[in-house]
Amino acid sequence: MAEPGLADVVARLRAAGSVFAEEEAALLLAAAPTAAELEETLGRRVAGEPLELVLGWVDLEGVRVALEASVFVPRRRSGLLVREAARLARSPAVVVDLCCGSGALGAALLARVGGLDLHAADVDPAAVRCARRNLGPTATVHRGDLFAALPRELAGRVGLVLANAPYVPTREIATMPPEARDHEPLVALDGGADGLDVHRRIAADAGAWLAPGGHLVLETSARQAARTAALVAAAGLAARVVRDADLDATVVVGTAR
Ligand SMILES: C[S@@+](CC[C@H](N)C(=O)[O-])C[C@H]1O[C@@H](n2cnc3c(N)ncnc32)[C@H](O)[C@@H]1O
Repeated sequence: MAEPGLADVVARLRAAGSVFAEEEAALLLAAAPTAAELEETLGRRVAGEPLELVLGWVDLEGVRVALEASVFVPRRRSGLLVREAARLARSPAVVVDLCCGSGALGAALLARVGGLDLHAADVDPAAVRCARRNLGPTATVHRGDLFAALPRELAGRVGLVLANAPYVPTREIATMPPEARDHEPLVALDGGADGLDVHRRIAADAGAWLAPGGHLVLETSARQAARTAALVAAAGLAARVVRDADLDATVVVGTAR
C-alpha cells in the first residue's frame, strides 16, 4: 500500500472538519510507520476520535502523558492548575491529585517540583490504570470515591490537594463537541445539575485532609468560579479565584486557616 502524502492527509482531515489539519497530518504521519497504520489512525481521526487518543499521548506543560481509550484527555487550560499548584507546593509535602484521570496533572507537577509524596486517586478503573502507567513509582495511585480512596493516615497531613473534577452541568453535555461527548466517559464530565456536585463534596471534605496552611486548588470555569469559591469559603477555607486569559483557564484556591 502506498503511503498517502501530506497533502492527501491534510485534505481528508480538512474534509472531516479538522481546524488544525496541517498540524494533525504531520503528527499522524510521524506516528505511523507504515501506510496501513496511517490508514488506520487517519480513519479513526476522520471518524471523530480525539487526536490525542488516536496518537496515544498528549503534552501537558511540556510533559508527555500516555492516554488510552475512554480516559479523559487532559486540556491545555489545566496548565494553570499545574502552575498554581507548583507555586504553592512546599517540598517535602504530601500532595493529592483527586480525580486524577490519566495522572497528567500530578505528572506535570512532579516535573516542576521535587520531593513531593504524591497520591493520585480516581473512581474509574481505566483512569487508575493509565495514571499508574504515567506516574510509575513516583506516586501511589488509589482507586475510589474522592477522599475515601486515600489512606486514613493522610488525614490532616496533606499540604496540597489539586483537582480537575467534572464540572459540566448535566444538561450541557449534549452540546459538548462530539470528541468529548462520544469518546470521554460521562463520569469524567458530568458535574450534576449545576455542574458543582463534585466541587461541593471536595470542598466540604478538604478541611479534614489538609494540614494547617495547606491548599486546595480546584479547576472551574469563569462562569462557575464565584460559586466554586463560595463552596470553598463555606467549608471554612480562605478562597480566591485565579484566572489566566491566555489559557482561558480559571482555578479556585482554598487555604486552610
Ligand atoms: C475532568 S476529568 C479530569 C482528569 C484529570 N484530572 C485531568 O485533568 O486530565 C475528571 C476525572 O474525575 C474522575 N471522577 C469523577 N467522579 C469521581 C469521584 N466521585 N471520585 C473519584 N474520581 C472521580 C473521573 O473518572 C475522571 O477521570
